[in-house]
Amino acid sequence: MKLITFEGIEGVGKSTQINLIMDWLSEKGFSVKLLREPGSTDFGEKIREILLSKESNISAHTELLLMFAARSEMVSSYMFDSKHDFILCDRYFHASIAYQGYGRKLSLNFINHLIDGIDCPIPDLTIIYDLDVTAGFKRKKDDVIDRIESSGIEFFEDVRKGYQQLAIERKEVELIDASQEIELIGEQTKNLVARLL
Ligand code: TMP
Repeated sequence: MKLITFEGIEGVGKSTQINLIMDWLSEKGFSVKLLREPGSTDFGEKIREILLSKESNISAHTELLLMFAARSEMVSSYMFDSKHDFILCDRYFHASIAYQGYGRKLSLNFINHLIDGIDCPIPDLTIIYDLDVTAGFKRKKDDVIDRIESSGIEFFEDVRKGYQQLAIERKEVELIDASQEIELIGEQTKNLVARLL
């Protein structure tokens, strides 16, 4: 099984690219499992509702730990002994480093301990779609904004910097410029995934 994860701030076009890769791999005859974080298990989806609800008045640490509670369920339910050729995951632990580490300013050391502590498999490939924060939100202007999306431009500037830093520091991470034409982004995404075939 190969694990590919997709990351980026709001409005980068992640879902479009995930669907494209899902179809592309399926057409080639590979079995593909699609997951999303937070979520993917019954319990994880309940946690997702709490995390995204504007009625949840929770601290940054609670937010982090709930992300990892959902993640722990997903990892133990799907990531060990998978019979699928590929797992595609819409966000994974890199999001906790970018959002809760760089965005909420929680300890990166603590987050890395949580990643190790719940035995998160390291992805074979993590693609981060990079886009100017204002441009991202412009693309989402008609959507209902959830609790995390209401965190403000400065927060998302920090999250974006976090993702850019991860692309420098971690060898599984590749960055794609999401301001390009969708078709070009699709080609670049496929080229990265093709390395794993
Ligand atoms: P989305 O995947 O539908 O965009 O919603 C998930 C939200 O949760 C998104 O704003 C990013 C955020 N998030 C974190 O803050 N930390 C995490 O570890 C994960 C997986 C997501």
